[in-house]
Amino acid sequence: MTSPLRKALEGSSVLVTVGSGGVGKTTVAATLALRAAMEGKGSLVVTIDPAKRLANSLGLSALGNTEARIPDATFAAAGLGPQAPMHAMMLDMKRTWDELIERRAPPDKREKILNTRFYQALSTALAGSQEYVAMEKLCELRAERDYPLVVLDTPPTAHALDFLDAPSRILDFLDNDAAKWLLTPALAAGKVGLRLFNLGGSYVAKTIARFTGTETLQQLADFMLNISGLNEGFRERAHETRALLEAPTTSFVLVTGPMPERLDEAIFFHTLLAQNKLNVAAIVVNRVHSPVPDALWPQVARLPQELLRKFEKTLKENEHLATQDARGIARLREACAPTPLVLVPRFERDVHDLRMLWETSRYLWGDARLQTDEAAG
Ligand SMILES: Nc1ncnc2c1ncn2[C@@H]1O[C@H](COP(=O)(O)OP(=O)(O)OP(=O)(O)O)[C@@H](O)[C@H]1O
Ligand SMILES: [Mg+2]
Repeated sequence: MTSPLRKALEGSSVLVTVGSGGVGKTTVAATLALRAAMEGKGSLVVTIDPAKRLANSLGLSALGNTEARIPDATFAAAGLGPQAPMHAMMLDMKRTWDELIERRAPPDKREKILNTRFYQALSTALAGSQEYVAMEKLCELRAERDYPLVVLDTPPTAHALDFLDAPSRILDFLDNDAAKWLLTPALAAGKVGLRLFNLGGSYVAKTIARFTGTETLQQLADFMLNISGLNEGFRERAHETRALLEAPTTSFVLVTGPMPERLDEAIFFHTLLAQNKLNVAAIVVNRVHSPVPDALWPQVARLPQELLRKFEKTLKENEHLATQDARGIARLREACAPTPLVLVPRFERDVHDLRMLWETSRYLWGDARLQTDEAAG
């Protein structure tokens, strides 16, 4: 059977890894980009907060937001010879926001916007802005560069589909009645008064409330006035982003761990993706405990008493975890059918270099399979 990720990689120009915190989104994104390059499809992986050692092995020790080609020598040192170039970048949220304002805002407003403290706080703290920025960058890369494949990593999300709502949330912020009200001439003239505190529980009000302590209302008014002209651009981009995510050449790779609480999140996430009519190429179940190979038991039985007991205990614990994982995986498979699952074992060490990414890719590609997976057919 051809691995579903192999098919997705061949047929897609954008892959997005999604899932809850710490499950392996960044690892899987980098692995997919590496595999694409090895197979002859030039790739760019856009990572978000990669572990330092992974960033180093991808040559990303410098500043973020620029794409760097992984040098041939780095690949050679890992014993790999890719057939197409692989690029990687670290997404710098703050800088992407600034670039966005620089591109969108009329020249006379640019500096004003960038220099208000309100903007500075907003661009780093606005809920969902990370997700928005990631999507924004993706659109820009698709429009201005010609990578055959862009793999987008996503930030750890507290709420499953934050990144899908993000563009509309930004619009909500800009479009909100309260925001419009803030733009009235009265406000511009500095007559803001206490009405600001009657905005109710709206999103914009809550956001504003977070800053009023440190920012004067006049500055806020200036900011809102300056940013008001940007609405159209944001709205257009929100539609573009949505269209790109729904395109037949875009696929999502949902990453999860095999433990029960992770699986419930993954099932929920999967349902939301399906409701949003987004293509899910596969669910990667990462860090699965492999069953103890049958051949190992007789070998252990030959060990001296003292060692035998210790080994047996470890193997039994492992066997228990593997059984538990297998049960969870069967539940996930059923709940998310017909979306295929791809299992990746828990390795003894972190996946922080090209060699380990390559090892991981063997499972994504179907060159290697876990016993649990084989049993499921
Ligand atoms: N199969 C695996 N076996 C062992 N370690 C793994 C495996 N997959 C990932 N790791 C390690 O687990 C850690 C978390 O992985 P990763 O950073 O990819 O998760 P993430 O989902 O991107 O996290 P975050 O939500 O914080 O961005 C990393 O140190 C990574 O090297
Ligand atoms: Mg990550």
